[in-house]
Formats: sequence, structure tokens, C-alpha cells
Amino acid sequence: MKTTDVLVIGSGAAGLSCALRLAEAGIRVAIVSKGPLQSGSTLWAQGGISAVLDATDSVDQHVTDTLTAGGGLCDEDAVRFTVERGPECVRWLQDLGVEFTYADDNPAELHLTKEGGHSHRRVVHAADATGRALESTLSGRAATHPNITVIEYALAIDLIVDHADKRVIGAYLLDVDHGGVTPVAARAVVLACGGANQVYLYSSNPHGASGDGIAMAWRAGCRIANMEFMQFHPTCLYHPEARNFLISEALRGEGAVLRLPNDDGSPGERFMPRFDSRGELAPRDIVARAIDHEMKRLGIKHVLLDITHKPAEFIRSHFPSIHARCLELGIDITREPIPVVPSAHFTCGGVLTDLRARSDVKGLYAIGEVACTGLHGANRLASNSLLECLVFAEAAAADLIQELPSRHLPTTLQPWDESRVRDSDEDIVVAHNWLELRTFMWDYVGIVRTTKRLQRAQHRIDLLQQEVQEYYGNYRISPDLIELRNLLTVADLIVRSALSRRESRGLHYTRDFPTQLEHAEPTVLPGRQWDAIGPQAEMPSH
Ligand code: FAD
Ligand code: SIN
Repeated sequence: MKTTDVLVIGSGAAGLSCALRLAEAGIRVAIVSKGPLQSGSTLWAQGGISAVLDATDSVDQHVTDTLTAGGGLCDEDAVRFTVERGPECVRWLQDLGVEFTYADDNPAELHLTKEGGHSHRRVVHAADATGRALESTLSGRAATHPNITVIEYALAIDLIVDHADKRVIGAYLLDVDHGGVTPVAARAVVLACGGANQVYLYSSNPHGASGDGIAMAWRAGCRIANMEFMQFHPTCLYHPEARNFLISEALRGEGAVLRLPNDDGSPGERFMPRFDSRGELAPRDIVARAIDHEMKRLGIKHVLLDITHKPAEFIRSHFPSIHARCLELGIDITREPIPVVPSAHFTCGGVLTDLRARSDVKGLYAIGEVACTGLHGANRLASNSLLECLVFAEAAAADLIQELPSRHLPTTLQPWDESRVRDSDEDIVVAHNWLELRTFMWDYVGIVRTTKRLQRAQHRIDLLQQEVQEYYGNYRISPDLIELRNLLTVADLIVRSALSRRESRGLHYTRDFPTQLEHAEPTVLPGRQWDAIGPQAEMPSH
């Protein structure tokens, strides 16, 4: 058994920031990643971090834009809490050495770009690879900090909960390279595992976005909220060799327009003004739905994003990574439009937390995309996610610094028992079920939903869950099996939440209830009742 004061599961912007803040306060932290330390969606973030940094902008305006994008479902206290802390978080990153882009005409001032739904330029960025700049600075600091132990290629399977006290006491970690499970005891655990967007066939996210944190928290008894609000980014590259490459919304912020392809493939009608007076800069749910509508209406495989009217030098300097990647694939974005399609991008719902990032289980915190803080409501405003990671990492750290002295370290943990399982000789079942799940989620639980399609998906999820549970009980676990089990749990939570919402709001659009109800209510799925089930139910049975 290993021990630490705080176990942080996830090394994206949220996990690394929290670990650094704790370590600076003298707390022993172990930070775990199921891949390399630099991994997760953070690494791929392009557009930037929204924060009120311009004298003509204001907290109130950022709050209003967030509430508007959120379709009436945001928690206004959470929004204000987050927005007010944005500038301090950006300064913290600058102090750590993150190399942001500065204004052309004033090298002392951060360059602010614009994205959909923002009434002001307020997105701080490092060209078009903001996440990489953040992740490399934060991971570099964490890797060398004497109070931080980095554990890479270790996949958290489940939290260990003292159910009598409803308190987290650690987690089981699977060694991804060599197999074998180690229990880690901790006085507190921070979930920073990112989102669940790999539940869909097409996603802008890396492979590991399998909802592990949400599924673990659910199994541990936490409430999970707003899972029907899965955000589809309007513009992912449509190319057979680059299935999950994002084309940043910042292109539209800097003037790119969406066009329909003519029959010969050349750029045709600019269609967004037909759908919304804000055109290409309407909130994401509106733009993604408009693209989906046009693709289905015309039977086309993609639409076109066109920035060719801007000077080539401007494009190359503002979007160097996108320009280079597209060029590698034979598309010169300075001269030709980019084929794009919507794809699953962000999980607005997640583990319900308060403003100190605390979940329903004592000692268990959730930060970043895994959490539902109330900031995003029914649709996230662009670049509000990295902001949320930073603000709630700080909030969790502040609470932990206060609370940790009163929390003791468990002296024993039940070891993982593999005596009753054998090696699997049917890995194909796991691969097949992954694909099946992601395909029907895309077809039945995507941008436009109906009750019938949701029920079809629910039926298939039930069957797959039975199959996977049997597999889990009989065979030695693998990372793919654990992720599939988690994706199924998340799919179930998404569909149950979607079926319970009898209206269309934000990212949840259903043909059976096309209008929005007057009163907005979050969807909160109650956590498991441990008193009724008893602690033995979650004994590791491997
Ligand atoms: P992540 O960065 O996803 O990190 C998750 C971590 O958890 C990883 O280290 C992973 O290894 C680990 N992990 C997961 N499960 C386990 C497990 N079971 N055991 C151990 N470790 C585990 N947002 C913005 O605000 N601005 C942007 O410009 C922007 N651009 C984006 C572009 C792309 C292509 C994508 C995909 C997302 C973008 N987003 C953007 C969204 C934003 O990047 C993410 O919401 C944010 O980075 C999530 O950070 P996180 O720390 O919560 O999780
Ligand atoms: C983008 O650059 O378009 C992504 C921004 C975000 O997801 O907030």
C-alpha cells in the first residue's frame, strides 16, 4: 500500500494546478495519470482562456455572456465566482512562466482573441496551442517539485470509500504497462480526470476522455448532474487521416465564415446568417445544430470553413499549428477552405460540487471537466473550461489546506483480490463493444435527439452493461475494459438525463419536446444509497 496526503487523479490543467498549489503549501501530493504526465484534453486546447483583462470589458459582461450561452441553466453564483477569479489565475500562470501571445502593437499587453458567444475580446492564448503551453509549464514545475510524486501510466480503477463514514480513503491503481493493482491510501482525493467525450464515435478529444472520474464518483455515491448537455464543437477537420483534429473557434473569432460546398466542391453560400443574427459567432450549440441541419438536408459529408480573405501572413502567425497540420494533409488554409464537421467536444455535466470543489463524499473533490460546478449550465461558453480548471483547482487547494489537518490517513486498505479471475482470451469483445457503443451514441444520442432513439440507446446500453459486468467479474482487468465499463456508465447517465428532460434547452435538443420550458431545472441523478446497499457490495472481487 502506498500513502500520500492528497491523491490527485489526472494531470491536465486542473490536476496539475491543484497539485502545485497544494505542494507550495507544504502538502504531500501524488499526481496520477493513466498516460504520460503531459496528457488529457488540456494538451490539445487551442483557443485559450477567457478572462476579463481589457479595460473596456467587465466581470458583469463576462457573466452575462456565460449565462446567455448556458441557456438559463447556469448557477449565477458559480459563474460570478469563476469569472471574478479569472484575471488572478492568468497572472498566476504568467508568474509560472507560461508563454502567452502578446499584442503586436504593445508587447507588454496580452493579445486577446474572440470566440463565439463573447461580447468582447477576452481570450488569452498562446497562438493556437494554448493547452500545450500550459501543460508543458505546469508539468515541468510539478515534475521537479519536492512535495509532488508523479505516477504515470497508472489508471485509477475505483475510489476506496469508507461507507460507514461516507468518506474517501484512497483509490486502486492499475499499472498500465505491467498489470497489477496497488491500493493508495490518502487523506483526501481530487478527481481531475477530464471529460467523457469518447463516448461518441467522432470526438475532438484524445482517447483517454472516457469519463473515468464521473463513473468512479457515481460508483462511490456522488450525485451526477446535467449529463444530457454534451457539447459538440462545430468545426473539427473532416479528413480520413486526422479524425479528431480541431479547427479552433478563434478562426471564426478572427473572421472565418462557414460556407456550403457547391456541387463541384468549391465554396458556396455562407449559411449561418440564415440561422442566427450572430452568424458564425453564435454560441456553439446553435452553430453545430445549423451545420448538422444543412448536412442532413443536403446529404453532404461536411461544410467549409473559409478564412482565405485574411492576409496569408496573419493566418500563419495567428494559427501556426492549424496551418501546419492542414498543410501536412494537403490543405493550404491561406488559399482554400477547410472541410469541417461537428464532433463531441466537452462534457458540461459531471460530479456535482460546491464552490469549494467538494463532492458528496467526504474528502473527495472534483475539478475541471469531470465536475459540474454550475458554471456551464446547458452549454459552455468558449474558453470557459480552462478558466474553470484553474479557478476550481485553486478553490479545492484552499479548502484542502484548511481541512487536511483534521483528516487522518487510513492505516489499512483492503488489497485487490485477483484470485477468482483468469486471463481473457476474447479481447475482441471489448473492442467490438467500444465501437458499438460509440456508434449508437453518435446515431441516437447526438446533436438532434428523439425519445424513441434515446430509448433504443438505453436498451443497448443495458445489454452491453450486463455483458461487460460479467466480463469484469470473470477476467483479469485491462485498461480498455476499465474504460469501456466507465463509458457505459457515462452513456447510461447521459441517456437517463436526456430522457428525463422534457424540453429542448441548450445542447439538449429533442424533436419530441422542441420548446423550452419557462422554468429551468438542472438534472441531478441521486448518488447510490450506501446505507441500503451496505459496504460489502463494493469489495474488490478480482
Ligand atoms: P484533462 O486535461 O482532460 O486531463 C485529464 C487527465 O486525467 C489526464 O492526465 C488523464 O491521463 C487523466 N486520467 C483520466 N482518467 C484517469 C484514470 N482513470 N486514472 C488516472 N488518470 C486518469 N477549453 C478552453 O477553455 N479553451 C480552449 O481553447 C479549449 N480548446 C480545446 C481544444 C481541444 C482539441 C479539446 C479536446 C478541448 C479544448 N478545450 C478548451 C476544453 C479543455 O481543454 C478541457 O475541458 C480541459 O483541458 C480539461 O482539463 P482537465 O484538467 O479537467 O482534464
Ligand atoms: C477552440 O479553440 O475552438 C476550443 C475552445 C474551447 O473549447 O473552449
